[in-house]
Amino acid sequence: MKKKILCYIFLFLPVCALPAKTEKEIESRIENLLSEMTLEEKIGQMNQLSYEYESAELLSDIRNGKVGSLLNITDPETINRLQKVAMEESRLGIPLIIGRDVIHGLKTIFPIPLGQAASFDPELVRQGARVAAVESRQLGIHWTFAPMVDISRDARWGRIAESFGEDTYLTGILGAAMVQGFQGDDLSSPTSIAACVKHFAGYGAAEGGRDYNSTYISPVQMRNVYLPPFRKAIEAGAATIMTSFNDNDGIPASGNPYLLKDILRKEWNFDGFVVSDWASVSEMIVHGYAKDGKDAARLATEAGVDMEMVSRTYTHFLPELIKEGKITEEAIDQAVRNILRVKFRMNLFEHPYADTHSPSLLYAPEHLEKAKQAALASAILLKNEDVLPLNESQHIAVIGPMAHAPHDQLGTWVFDGEKARTVTPLNALQTTYGHIRYTYEPGLAYSRDKNPENIQKAVQVARNADVAVVFLGEESILSGEAHSLSTLDLQGLQSELLKEIKNTGKPVVLVIMAGRPLTIQRDLPYADAVLYNFHPGTMGGPAILDLLYGKYNPSGKLPVTFVKETGQIPLYYNHNNTGRPAPEQVVLLDEIPLEASQTSLGNTSFYLDSGKDPLFPFGFGLSYTTFEYSGLLLSAPEIRQQDTLTIQVTVKNTGDRYGTETAQLYVRDLVGSVVRPVKELKGFRKVNLQPGEEKTISFTLSAEDLAFYGRNLTRKAEPGEFLLSVGRDSKASLQTKFYLKEKD
Ligand code: GLC
Repeated sequence: MKKKILCYIFLFLPVCALPAKTEKEIESRIENLLSEMTLEEKIGQMNQLSYEYESAELLSDIRNGKVGSLLNITDPETINRLQKVAMEESRLGIPLIIGRDVIHGLKTIFPIPLGQAASFDPELVRQGARVAAVESRQLGIHWTFAPMVDISRDARWGRIAESFGEDTYLTGILGAAMVQGFQGDDLSSPTSIAACVKHFAGYGAAEGGRDYNSTYISPVQMRNVYLPPFRKAIEAGAATIMTSFNDNDGIPASGNPYLLKDILRKEWNFDGFVVSDWASVSEMIVHGYAKDGKDAARLATEAGVDMEMVSRTYTHFLPELIKEGKITEEAIDQAVRNILRVKFRMNLFEHPYADTHSPSLLYAPEHLEKAKQAALASAILLKNEDVLPLNESQHIAVIGPMAHAPHDQLGTWVFDGEKARTVTPLNALQTTYGHIRYTYEPGLAYSRDKNPENIQKAVQVARNADVAVVFLGEESILSGEAHSLSTLDLQGLQSELLKEIKNTGKPVVLVIMAGRPLTIQRDLPYADAVLYNFHPGTMGGPAILDLLYGKYNPSGKLPVTFVKETGQIPLYYNHNNTGRPAPEQVVLLDEIPLEASQTSLGNTSFYLDSGKDPLFPFGFGLSYTTFEYSGLLLSAPEIRQQDTLTIQVTVKNTGDRYGTETAQLYVRDLVGSVVRPVKELKGFRKVNLQPGEEKTISFTLSAEDLAFYGRNLTRKAEPGEFLLSVGRDSKASLQTKFYLKEKD
């Protein structure tokens, strides 16, 4: 009875969490509770189910302590009803932890993570995650399956949309920021949600960019490229981590003790819990790694998967495996300790229910404003031949399937954001930009539309306008999970539409909304300006118009390389030099003389048809103003292992408009025990400058920043010469060298 009263009180009291417990108290509560639990109750904590409906079986399972977590339930009343069963009707009253994919917003949708990455702004990413956390807890959601920190160098992979792009350093910083936003300063706060860093590990290296495909990441690559962002997220306090679907070198991540125990627990001292991906435990049967469900349960438990998402092999087979002595109860206890630790840290025992009485914060004005700020900072200006910013007196033709695509503008991984709340560019022209004279004719109904019948209508509208703004891109379904593409050209008749519009002779502004980099080389000649937005979310419309009219000067930088042709993939900036790097000038296909002799083109690494360079390099992004870099200065020409090198550079706004530049610092370790990339991002600074203003900014580098895993997989900064470059993108040309000494 006492427990009932206590819980009822909590149900109606305003949101006030009891003080967070000390770690010592939490550990003691874990042991006390564990000592009371039956084996079945322990295994119950390791079982996560996806909510479909409130069945008698589900209620019975919760009542009997057979469920530790539910995902995909978002009605606070329903959550509270089921939670009440767990808290009051089960023997031990252990709260459920409610999970959901809140990847870039719950109701207020922010740009997809690839877009947020283009902001190069960790504070902006943190704030977006904070908004998502506040909105999620309003619905009773305790746990999100984000940040996704898979390094992705292959735009054919649809989940590049969810990633922060190709760079390890940038992904590490932004992943940590997202963890801080979700979890806040205090995981026990009623506005915090537990983060789940994913997918551990190497998932983004799927061969061929085909989702779920095998990866073949060497130990050195795994350590230097794919794992560091996970470590940063864990150092930022990520409460949970999720295994990935891929097998790396033949071992599925959900059955890989080297990843989940040796690295995650022993090296990184992670003490949260590991959840599998959706049915990734049972899928080890399909992989051909487990004989059957029982074998899968054994392999996953032995590897260190604490909680199984939806495939129930733990529930069905762990009792038997324990009886047969194939799994020890101590292994079960350890998994349950990890799960209970997060539940205690979140204060769920004292604060399990959704607060259904506080005023709604969903779509709060300040949330929408932050989403707009994120969309502004995430847009990348790829081309501008004096047509942007637009003049508000111009009559504009608004053309293309993405000018008013309220569903698709939100991007992939949006379950709860409502398209009715999306403000599209067309909506913005009907409201905040109501004074602009425009004529709207999409020309195509959606990105894959192959129906040409309305293209001439759009052409006519363009003829009668001063400038044409053409909104093209991708429907949201064309990126995200399981949505790989083998060509990255604009779908449907979009390129044809653009060409027809340009052939009117009017200035053309191309605005793209997509979930990935597209191969737009052939479209560029038909656009005088290109503004690229990785699906910008709820407030993308007003943001894009502010950008087009110069109320906000574009400042985004590419977090991923844009290739000229899909066939160039994988092509990324931090590649190895090879023994035969291509020269600056190479002979391309159409320039090859007839009967050219075998070696006349040189024997170096490039494509005869598309050369060696990307269309746009990592870190690239233009502005309405121009910036100049000068005065690169080092605090010393050489440093010892214990020293810190300070790098100074002056950035000047040499244009006539206020702007924000993201200065980037790249380093190359010229000689290593394993070959090192031609450059690696080691710092970036956003600098705001008035016209004519200049600022001297500084970076620091230490041996820790230069350290890498070498041939024998020990991590150290190897002595020798380093090339350092600073600039506006990964082609940074302001260069100097410094030396790292062996020791004193
Ligand atoms: C999916 C995804 C994972 C997601 C999970 C729950 O298959 O791979 O990222 O969090 O299932 O929806």
